[in-house]
Amino acid sequence: MHQGLTIGELANRSGLAVSAIRFYETHGIVRPLRNQGGHRRYGRSDLRRLSFALIAQRLGFPLAEIAGHLATLPADRAPDRQDWERIATGFRNRIAERIAALQALSDKLDGCIGCGCLSLDKCSLYNPEDWAARKGQGPRYLMGDRPEGTDG
Ligand code: FES
Repeated sequence: MHQGLTIGELANRSGLAVSAIRFYETHGIVRPLRNQGGHRRYGRSDLRRLSFALIAQRLGFPLAEIAGHLATLPADRAPDRQDWERIATGFRNRIAERIAALQALSDKLDGCIGCGCLSLDKCSLYNPEDWAARKGQGPRYLMGDRPEGTDG
């Protein structure tokens, strides 16, 4: 029988509201088991999973990607140190990619501060690598499409 934590206990331990934990559960961040009475019970690894998600969100990563990292943890046993180290390594690489992308944007910002055109077609800061063209013909952002990375 799985003892585990109730959702209220997990809320107390994590500092999150019960509703927030349910939200994270909906997105696959925590994965409670059921006790004999059919009630959700959370493991210690769920606390770690929540911590990981909160940190990753603060770094600006979308929940779907965070859930993707967590989905690589074993489902049939509690994750061990090696499992978490594997996740950390993969995530560290993603952070390095993000830092490089932000540095590239920062470098372009210098030129754009002097320019100020914010051209939908030409500004590499507003429309890097002409992402808007991938959405179709015409002034895509004016037609309601959102720039990459701003869809939520
Ligand atoms: S503001 Fe003119 S190119 Fe970015």
